[in-house]
Amino acid sequence: MKVTIKELTKKFGDFTAVDHVSAEFDDGKLIALLGPSGCGKTTMLNMLSGILPSTEGKIFFDDEDVTDLSADKRGVGLVFQNYALYPHMTVLENVCFPLRIRGVPKKERIEKAMKFINLVHIEDYLDRKPAELSGGQQQRVAITRALIKKPKLLLLDEPLSNLDAKLRVEMREEIRRIQKESGVTTIFVTHDQEEASSISDSIMLLKRGVQQQFGTVDDLCDNPVNLFTADFLGTPTINQVHGTWSEKGFVADGQTEIISFNVNIPTGTRLIYASRAEALKLNQDKQFEAEILEKYKVGKDTLVRLKYGNGSLRAYTEDKTIQIGDIVGVGMKDFGVFLFEAESGKRLL
Ligand SMILES: Nc1ncnc2c1ncn2[C@@H]1O[C@H](COP(=O)(O)OP(=O)(O)OP(=O)(O)O)[C@@H](O)[C@H]1O
Ligand SMILES: [Mg+2]
Repeated sequence: MKVTIKELTKKFGDFTAVDHVSAEFDDGKLIALLGPSGCGKTTMLNMLSGILPSTEGKIFFDDEDVTDLSADKRGVGLVFQNYALYPHMTVLENVCFPLRIRGVPKKERIEKAMKFINLVHIEDYLDRKPAELSGGQQQRVAITRALIKKPKLLLLDEPLSNLDAKLRVEMREEIRRIQKESGVTTIFVTHDQEEASSISDSIMLLKRGVQQQFGTVDDLCDNPVNLFTADFLGTPTINQVHGTWSEKGFVADGQTEIISFNVNIPTGTRLIYASRAEALKLNQDKQFEAEILEKYKVGKDTLVRLKYGNGSLRAYTEDKTIQIGDIVGVGMKDFGVFLFEAESGKRLL
């Protein structure tokens, strides 16, 4: 099912938690709702599920306007951060519960449940109580319970945040697999950009209730509309150096050389030069010079930190002879280098 939101807004008194957000979430896709704590992710999810009324705007499921439809009529599966399993019920009873309250006979409930139980791989713990399961197992039970209702839309609110780092990576791949196999349109809330990037078809990035950018991971990383998006996505975090536009190019604070770019910007504009670590090349096509401050291994790559202007830049290198203290020429590839207006964060190049 396709989900469309138009100018969706939630106000709590004078405070706007979600501010006129519009988007289309295509059928069968996994969409990550990403942003820092307090940016309105849970509020948005709760409006989609129907447990929170919107202040303004519309929600459509396919062509049907569901804005005023109650939560129980929307056919949405919701998994909360704390899983909210019933502690006194076994795994099987938990999973079957949504069918029990619909009055589905026991034999049929169990038959239906087994299909999802096999999909999610919880068949070995059916007789256990939630307290006897690990976080990842509890989470799978919660997802199974949401799926058994055959939701048209599955909403997951930071489902992995209680898990340790390794299990989190495993479980996010599980969620991706389950989502693909079930084909249900899924919206997944996270504040972890790596988690969002690794599993989703597209990402909506929010800041203080305002949509910053909605697109594929590549769109957001390679073509950010503003500094907030460029800074939020990508590992390592994008390099940033403050400076000023001087007729032909960018001059970093504390430097005299001009880095030329083919763009028209009013002289004197305060800027932030931003580059991805993988967009810089050392001792090739030199545009400026910088000193190596640090050098460290990241997996099989070597990452260096260079002093430039009043800031520093990270860059990858394959040159094993580079030493701390060396002055190197820095060139730029034709991707991953941007100029943002310092005041507004707006992208100018
Ligand atoms: N019932 C409420 N009354 C007043 N303000 C609220 C209410 N619920 C949420 N807010 C505020 O709305 C903003 C968005 O909250 P929300 O829970 O949607 O954030 P979030 O992005 O899910 O954050 P987190 O990552 O911490 O879960 C926050 O500033 C929060 O304090
Ligand atoms: Mg939240």
